[in-house]
Amino acid sequence: MTDREDESADHYDDEAEACGWHGPAVAFSLASMYVEAGQTILDIGVGTGLGSMPFHEAGLRVIGMDISDDMLDACRKKECAARLVRHDLTVTPYPFGDASCDHAVSTGVFQFFEDLEPVFREAGRILQNGGVFVFVTGDRNPEEEATVVVSAECTGTGSPVTMYRHTVDEVNGWLEGNGFRLIDTLEFTVWMDAARSLRFPARAYLAQKGTAPVIRTSTG
Ligand SMILES: C[S@@+](CC[C@H](N)C(=O)[O-])C[C@H]1O[C@@H](n2cnc3c(N)ncnc32)[C@H](O)[C@@H]1O
Repeated sequence: MTDREDESADHYDDEAEACGWHGPAVAFSLASMYVEAGQTILDIGVGTGLGSMPFHEAGLRVIGMDISDDMLDACRKKECAARLVRHDLTVTPYPFGDASCDHAVSTGVFQFFEDLEPVFREAGRILQNGGVFVFVTGDRNPEEEATVVVSAECTGTGSPVTMYRHTVDEVNGWLEGNGFRLIDTLEFTVWMDAARSLRFPARAYLAQKGTAPVIRTSTG
């Protein structure tokens, strides 16, 4: 699970399955009781749509954003997203209005970025009050190194890639500074290779927009 813009979209899903990539399932398990069919969810770094597929299957309207045309094309073929937008997540503002989405998800993306402040600022602007932001980061304890250089053999791109790990305190600072309240986190393992010999520690987070809990009641 080590790409950036040069990810081979054609092979991405097969490689994700071979590595046992279950970030999307972990994210959905954290968020499922806070989302309802008919609501919108923004997938930041949608890729081929793996992260938002469980939300699509639950009846949500998926809006996907990604920098890679190839990944967006692969996602488009699955017909799991209502709207797909090419946009670089480091460039703000994102092309979505204030309070225009109910929820946001991002899986397998944040480990490529040292500074996530712009992403959380934009998520805080775009989400409605009470909406949830569920995402995955590379995880570390404060005493551990923040960067990991993944070798060219593992990236499959011919070049090494630097990946970033963030502490819970760092992430919580970005959340609280942008109007979110942390609800839950879950540590899990991302395998870097099909042999499952190289482990990358990951953590899924569930946060809610607004400082007071918003209880949703189903009318259906
Ligand atoms: C490892 S894939 C994860 C895809 C999907 N979310 C998943 O869980 O399988 C990382 C995705 O982030 C996208 N990405 C990388 N850098 C980006 C950037 N600066 N802006 C937007 N998307 C970016 C890549 O194009 C790729 O689709």
